[in-house]
Amino acid sequence: MKFFVLGNHRELSIAEIVAVTGVSDFKSVSGDLLLLDTDMSSATLQDKLAGTIKVGSVIGELGEWDKEACADLIVAMMGEITNRVEFGISVYDAGDGKQTKELRGESQKLGLSIKKRLKESGHPVRLVTSNEKTLSAVVITTNKLLERGGEFVLIVTKDSILVGQTEAVQDFEAWSKRDFGRPARDSKSGMLPPKLARMMINLAGADPHTATILDPFCGSGTVLMEAALMGFTRIIGSDISPKAIADSQKNHEWLMKQDQLVATVTLFISPAQTLDQHVTKPVDVIVTETYLGPGLHGGEHPDFIKKNLKMLSELYRDCFGTLFNLLKPGGTAVVAFPVFQTQIGEQEAMGRTVIEQIGFRVANKIRYERVGQHVARDIMVLGR
Ligand SMILES: C[S@@+](CC[C@H](N)C(=O)[O-])C[C@H]1O[C@@H](n2cnc3c(N)ncnc32)[C@H](O)[C@@H]1O
Repeated sequence: MKFFVLGNHRELSIAEIVAVTGVSDFKSVSGDLLLLDTDMSSATLQDKLAGTIKVGSVIGELGEWDKEACADLIVAMMGEITNRVEFGISVYDAGDGKQTKELRGESQKLGLSIKKRLKESGHPVRLVTSNEKTLSAVVITTNKLLERGGEFVLIVTKDSILVGQTEAVQDFEAWSKRDFGRPARDSKSGMLPPKLARMMINLAGADPHTATILDPFCGSGTVLMEAALMGFTRIIGSDISPKAIADSQKNHEWLMKQDQLVATVTLFISPAQTLDQHVTKPVDVIVTETYLGPGLHGGEHPDFIKKNLKMLSELYRDCFGTLFNLLKPGGTAVVAFPVFQTQIGEQEAMGRTVIEQIGFRVANKIRYERVGQHVARDIMVLGR
């Protein structure tokens, strides 16, 4: 059985795991932890998933808390030791909050007991701890725990304590580099966080080797970059703005150099309303964040908000009419539509009824929001 430590956007992370593994009958999902059976390796899963922070395997189970038995199990999990050992322990809750609290207190004692055993058998050893409740991907990576000893995980369920070992953690440096280190950024129009772009592509469930993917509001090309990294070879981006297309090109070239990849991307300057003049063959997948309208600060007059919503709904109606016809029957569109937090309450720019009137079937709708932002996103998974 595998355990997944979920990122900040829990509902999206879970939907992404279901889309990537094809497994929806979890053993358990509670707090930020999900347990399920899959044959996929932890490294493959972590490499694909943007909404998961750690993946590992459950190795043992204790009916009740027994520090010494747990220490035995963890030392056995370490296998043959030749060098200095660095290890850490994290406790996760999967159903019994009270015992989890107790075990968090016990985990330090457990760590010291394991340390003592290893020292007695002549191995230099360091127990890595942190002020946070669990060890973060940053602590695990910077201390090279996965190579030097391991992160061991106690998962407290209602009936037992599962003992697991982390096998892969999110490559936070690579994600941050693509987010902040790419040459062309456009904070005025807005950019998708790369992790959200990746989750959206995963939700589309397409095979990168055969599918054509289109982002018709590509901006500086976040979706296009993630698609190239995921192995898509038929990638199309378009935008009404010549600057956006130049930025997408620049970012794509930068990514190819960074990751020593060879993937081409076809780019068009075009309004989405008339994109069928350039893209003549239907595509398998559309993944996009639509135009969000003018930047908002949250204190806008209600008349302005209403005018803005009217303008956006008309634009979306026109654009998504064209995009519906550009999507193959059976294809999937995953679209981030804005939801405005305003003085007159929450305002959706694209409702379920309108998108259904165009012809799409709404397979899923998940909210993505960050604290302090005036514009949230509704991620809609749409079938044709
Ligand atoms: C929110 S941005 C997309 C950002 C992109 N997801 C990224 O990560 O860089 C929306 C984009 O829609 C483009 N746009 C606005 N109206 C458009 C239209 N009618 N057709 C196509 N693109 C349009 C804007 O130029 C802008 O680049």
